[in-house]
This record gives sequence, structure tokens and C-alpha cells, in this order.
Amino acid sequence: MKILVTGAAGFIGSNFVFYEQKLHPDYEIVGLDSLTYAGNLSTLEPAMENDRFKFFKADITDRDAIFKIVSEEKPDVIVNFAAESHVDRSIEDPGVFLRTNILGTQVLMDAAREYGVGRFHQVGTDEVYGDLPLDRPDLLFTETTPINTSSPYSASKASADLLAMAYHRTFGLPLTISRCSNNYGPYQFPEKLIPLMIANALADKPLPVYGEGLNVRDWLYVDDHCKAIDMILSNGKIGEVYNIGGHNEMANIDIVKLIIGYLGKPESLITYVTDRKGHDMRYAIDPKKISDELGWSPETKFADGIKLTIDWYLHNKEWWENIISGEYRKYYAEMYDGR
Ligand code: NAD
Ligand code: TYD
Repeated sequence: MKILVTGAAGFIGSNFVFYEQKLHPDYEIVGLDSLTYAGNLSTLEPAMENDRFKFFKADITDRDAIFKIVSEEKPDVIVNFAAESHVDRSIEDPGVFLRTNILGTQVLMDAAREYGVGRFHQVGTDEVYGDLPLDRPDLLFTETTPINTSSPYSASKASADLLAMAYHRTFGLPLTISRCSNNYGPYQFPEKLIPLMIANALADKPLPVYGEGLNVRDWLYVDDHCKAIDMILSNGKIGEVYNIGGHNEMANIDIVKLIIGYLGKPESLITYVTDRKGHDMRYAIDPKKISDELGWSPETKFADGIKLTIDWYLHNKEWWENIISGEYRKYYAEMYDGR
């Protein structure tokens, strides 16, 4: 079995490479990433020690490069994690989101068709369903919840999902789609809520909470997402969508308080800032389909996963301190100064 993993140098892609190497030592894994600001080749150093791993620096929108890699490597499976993934950046500059997330997915699927790749898996997000009200805890996203996007990011991801379904129906491309809730864990880029709050708290910097901090996300430890994708690759039905989430809804402010409590920092660091435009109120996944059909269930409880994650950032300062220099400082100043 040979798997081409795009976005392999990003947060979930790298964790998926490690997960697969551990679970299936016989698999050959080809990592591919254009190494945008969010991709970090050093993350993949442990994977490189394995001679069944190979890495290509390539952009998924570069048709010639992608066709060459797919024709030469002949993967059995492509798992597409490569994406622009940060909602706030999509509000500042939607163009690159449309290019990578939609057109890049098209290029990968065209290559899969051209070279007869046996399986294409599109890694999607629960954000395609829009948001849910806080006062209706009974409502959850199912696979048949209508697509109803709020941000350029979620619109681009929804477009990719629709295109994927069209490629399946029209061309018979054998594919599956997963839609996962918010992930957390090691190697997440510090622009996202949890690592940003950990990094700022450790530096005694203000913790910028959008609006009143009441927005709810459904958090899942990254390995549980990797486990779900692995199970979909093995037993998922072609042409199907699978929602992934662990029934773990939490308000942003509660996460921030938990992080500062664990690190022994004062709550005075919390700073309420202007809300995100179009900010989705609540995400909540109903994972019944993947649980019933594939037997998936999450293994890491939030109370354990968040400690593992905070400890990882404490012990791997070099990884994220390198990242929060340079381009990220400029981004941070533009996004947060005077907000
Ligand atoms: P990330 O931003 O950490 O990583 C994305 C990776 O894709 C980076 O390594 C980047 O260099 C690479 N990339 C970007 N544009 C590329 C291009 N044009 N060609 C090749 N590589 C490119 O994102 P992530 O959090 O790891 O998310 C991975 C996937 O999972 C995305 O598709 C995202 O939409 C989806 N997802 C994420 C979450 C979450 O909570 N992080 C939840 C559900 C779904
Ligand atoms: P984020 O990690 O960007 O994920 P997403 O928007 O894709 O769910 O944000 C998670 C939540 O945290 C979201 O409600 C926005 C909020 N948030 C803050 O309050 N402050 C921040 O600095 C960031 C990055 C996010």
C-alpha cells in the first residue's frame, strides 16, 4: 500500500503520517507539501528516518508537478489535507483559499483519474454546515445537514466537497469525504486558538478572546481524527461523507481559562477583543454514522488531550518559537494590534 499525503508538513497531515507509520509499518508514504507559512519540513524529521517515507515539495495547484509525481509514484491512495486553513486569514485574503482549496483539489482529482489512483480521500471540515444556535443543544450536524457556509474558508472547503461529489458521480472517481470538528494536539500552528493561547500565556502576553468568548467548538484530539480517516480508508463506503467529532463542545473562554489554570498564569491576561466578522456561534458534530458503520470512537478525553498538548508545547518550544518569528510576527501585528 502506498499513500500520497498532501499537506504532510502541516498540523493534521504530519500527525497522520506519524499515525500511519506506527499503525502500518509496511505502508509506503509519500508526503507532499508546498511549505507555505503553515508547513514546516522540520516537523517531518522523525518520519524521514523511515526509508518507506519520501517527501516532495510541490504545490497542489501546479498541474505539471502533481501529474509528474502521481504518474511516477503511482500511489494506491491520495489523502488530501493540503489547504489554506485559517478562517481569519480567509477574511483578509480569500483568493489563495479559492486557488488552493478548490482548484488544488481539482488538480489532485484530475491526476487521480488520469493515473487510475484507486482511492481519493478529501479531508473536509464541519464548518461547511455553517453554525448552530447556543440555545438548541439538541441540534447537531449530520451528513445531511445543508451546506450553509459563513467564511471564505468554509465556502472554499464546501466547494471542494461539492466538486469531489461531482467527480465521483460524473467520472466515477472512487472517493470518500470526511468532515471533522476542531482538532487540537502537537504541531498545530500557533495562529489557532489553543496553541496561540498556550504560546501567549507562556510569554505573559495578552490572550485575545474574540467577542465575549461564548462561541462553542467541538474539540477532538488530532490522533482521533487520524484514526477516523484510517478507518474510512479501510472500510468507508465509496461516495460517502463521514462526520467526525467526539461530543466535546466547549466555549472558547472555558478553554482559555483551562489553559491559564494549568500553566498557573493570571486571568488578568484575558483580553476581550473585537469579534471575528461572520463569526460562527457553535459547531457540534453527530458522529453516529462513523460510529455505527465503522465502529469509530474517540480515545482521548479532552481533559487528558489538553494536558498532553500543553505539555508538548512546553517541551517543544524550539518548534514553535522558530515559527512565531518572521512572517508570523507581521501577521500577528496586523491581526491583533489595536483590535
Ligand atoms: P495546516 O494549515 O496546519 O496545514 C496545511 C498544510 O497544507 C500546510 O503544511 C501547508 O504548507 C500545505 N499547503 C497549503 N497550500 C498548499 C498548496 N497549494 N500545495 C501544497 N500544500 C499546501 O492545516 P491543518 O489544520 O493541518 O488542516 C489540514 C486539513 O484538515 C485542511 O484541509 C483543513 O481544512 C482540514 N481540517 C482541519 C481542522 C482543524 O481543526 N485544524 C478541522 C477539520 C478539517
Ligand atoms: P480557530 O482556532 O481559528 O478555529 P475555527 O475558527 O476554525 O473554529 O478558532 C477557534 C475559536 O476561537 C473561534 O471561535 C475563534 C476563537 N478565537 C479567539 O477567540 N481568539 C483567537 O485569537 C483565535 C485565533 C480564535
